[in-house]
Amino acid sequence: MLQIALLGFGVVGNGTAEVILQNQKQIAAYCGDEVNIKYILDLRDFPEHPLGNRVVHDIKIILDDPEVTLVAEMMGGSHPAYDFTCAALKAGKHVVTSNKEVVATFGAELLDLARENHVSYLFEASVGGGIPIIRPMQTDLASNEILAVSGILNGTTNFILTKMKNEGAAFADVLKLAQQKGYAEANPAADVEGLDAARKIVILAALAFGKLLDPNKISTTGITGITQEHTALADKLGGAVKLIGHTEKVDGRVLALVSPFLVFSSNPISHVDDVYNGILVDTNMLGRAFFYGAGAGKLPTASAVVADILDILSGRSTDRRLPHWTVADEADIADVASLSCRRVYVFEGCPRCEAKAKTALKTEDSVWLCDGKFAVISSKMSATNADAAVTATGLCPVLSLPVLE
Ligand code: HSE
Repeated sequence: MLQIALLGFGVVGNGTAEVILQNQKQIAAYCGDEVNIKYILDLRDFPEHPLGNRVVHDIKIILDDPEVTLVAEMMGGSHPAYDFTCAALKAGKHVVTSNKEVVATFGAELLDLARENHVSYLFEASVGGGIPIIRPMQTDLASNEILAVSGILNGTTNFILTKMKNEGAAFADVLKLAQQKGYAEANPAADVEGLDAARKIVILAALAFGKLLDPNKISTTGITGITQEHTALADKLGGAVKLIGHTEKVDGRVLALVSPFLVFSSNPISHVDDVYNGILVDTNMLGRAFFYGAGAGKLPTASAVVADILDILSGRSTDRRLPHWTVADEADIADVASLSCRRVYVFEGCPRCEAKAKTALKTEDSVWLCDGKFAVISSKMSATNADAAVTATGLCPVLSLPVLE
């Protein structure tokens, strides 16, 4: 019998127990032995749950039990999750986690600690909910240089944007629904203001480029400034507004940001709706790969947690596969103003203003909207050059969004 412990019995912890109980037979066949949840660590008791008798309130019981070889940390938040993870790794136990805050903040250190103790630290569920993205980037794409990663990384905001666009629903009502469905963070400001997506793009940037950026310091704009007018406008331009995490290298430095982007319908990301996430990985050999699936929610996220558990318990994962990350310093980080892309600007004005804006933004691409407004889609240029070009026209955009190619 393979003995494991769950740390945290909230939405994802419950889902993990459900996946292990429901798919017991196939899990045992994959691992060559049965997987048993020996302990569940939580502050609360769950007398009604079939595993209610496994609940403990003291991490020491788990750490001191040599039968437990793996702990799944699904507590959320940095502390005590980080402290328990360190203690488990030092006790020679493998750790898997869905906790993007811990991975994005302490990942470099925890991976080193895992290596020192000859155990694994896996975090498939920390990005993209149930979508396999971390392991494919580390294994299937290992023969490639990763050039860029872009995607919808937050299910809650995508759910909100989709409902705003398709149903004209009000922001607050949809957020409440996302909370009821178990998609949103304990503090949903982390979703709507982009911090959750920032943590995830920082993890993907570290996988792609080996440098761990501070998620609190990358340029992050959420969706609180996006209105139904903006989503309708994007529709009229043949696309959708999506909250995108993007990373690439610019002159050897890592650029990472989170921002609402306009995504034209020719890009599969524009069709990723509801709680789904979609991630584009651009590589130098394969070209572009697209990963799609449920980005949040109990069972999808638990599916990824259990995938990591099985990877370890079946002996397929070794500490040799753990990536080496270093904490990025100033010299490693590119200024977000260096992001080169097309941008859509909406201005109020007359046909002469439109002509001026098109010349400044080096484009022939413009569309007249209602109420004397027009949109201009710039040619590809850095934010610095685009901002300077717009300022030179004397026009003041009522909206500007980068375009995801
Ligand atoms: N709050 C997160 C989201 C949960 O909505 O994507 C999954 O990480």
